[in-house]
Amino acid sequence: MDQLIEAARDVLDDAHVPYSEYRVGAALRTADGTVYTGCNIENANYSNSLHAEEVAVAEAVKNGHREFDRLVVTSGVRDGVTPCGMCRQTLSEFAADDLPVVCDEGDGETSEYTLGELLPNTISEGTLDDANNV
Ligand code: THU
Ligand code: ZN
Repeated sequence: MDQLIEAARDVLDDAHVPYSEYRVGAALRTADGTVYTGCNIENANYSNSLHAEEVAVAEAVKNGHREFDRLVVTSGVRDGVTPCGMCRQTLSEFAADDLPVVCDEGDGETSEYTLGELLPNTISEGTLDDANNV
């Protein structure tokens, strides 16, 4: 199995999901090949819950990595999981439009998108600059 898919599946065990019982794992590979993983960590105040992709991005950035070359997301089963809108925006802070986002569909099947396909016309630093220059 692809190493990055395996890493995303491995971290499913660490998910804290007493409310949804829906585990999500993410594995993010940096430009130098380091892999950071994340799982969802829910909270009794539902909106405080952390998403797997957010946790992976936070781990990577905390360790000094800001260039990414591939993301895998999995729920461990075939259900069409993809990063939610919020996570797409979070990824776009650091990753280019051409970041491959691989959604694990189980049994060796994947759906692959680019971040730009999942989130076109993202709000970026440039957007704010333009607003400030009006
Ligand atoms: N979830 C993620 O971890 N990543 C996403 O982008 C989609 C949703 C989690 C949040 C919540 O713990 C569970 O999946 C159900 O929405
Ligand atoms: Zn999300």
